[in-house]
Amino acid sequence: MKLVGISGSLRRGSINSGLLRAAAELVPDGHGIVIASLREIPLYDGDVEARDGVPASVSALKDLIAATDGLLISTPEYNNSMPGVLKNALDWLSRPAADIGRVFGGRPVALMGASPGGFGTTLGQNAWLPVLRTLGTQPWFGGRLMISRAGALFSADGELTDEGTRQNLRKFLEGFIAFTGPQAGRR
Ligand code: FNR
Repeated sequence: MKLVGISGSLRRGSINSGLLRAAAELVPDGHGIVIASLREIPLYDGDVEARDGVPASVSALKDLIAATDGLLISTPEYNNSMPGVLKNALDWLSRPAADIGRVFGGRPVALMGASPGGFGTTLGQNAWLPVLRTLGTQPWFGGRLMISRAGALFSADGELTDEGTRQNLRKFLEGFIAFTGPQAGRR
């Protein structure tokens, strides 16, 4: 399986980007995670879309998602919801609406996230559910990875250093890979 991973943080020392890098290291042999960056995705502007169409950075990410077997989202929680940077990216990726089926239709999606607080992005992950439903994805509910008190588990530059959490991440990835197999066949 080839997965695409997206982190909802642009911060250099981001724990959610670090979680995604750890996932790319720990994914079971024979599978891979391509990490996509949101840095080149502009703010959504309907006037820009009407005038120029979808920006090249958005088209490239749409094509990458469409060419992979599943999407792994590492989401921070902001104000008990999803971060705007990531929501903005998904909004661009859903344009034009006629292309949603190609990019997202039936696509396996797993959510994970890390927070220095005590609830580990529970509400941030929940906030994504209506979006994933609207886009016609196949969210994976067979495992959950909500990393709380992340200050003790990641280094200052966002590397996941805690061995127990790395093992949980490995199990989470095994579950998602197992889910993507049959799902991918159904698309
Ligand atoms: C936060 N943070 C946060 N954490 C949390 O657990 N629940 C929340 O509702 C919020 N709200 C929130 C709002 C805003 C605007 C910011 C900037 C931060 C803290 C957040 O979890 C922390 O900054 C993480 O380190 C962000 O993830 P990255 O950037 O390290 O991946």
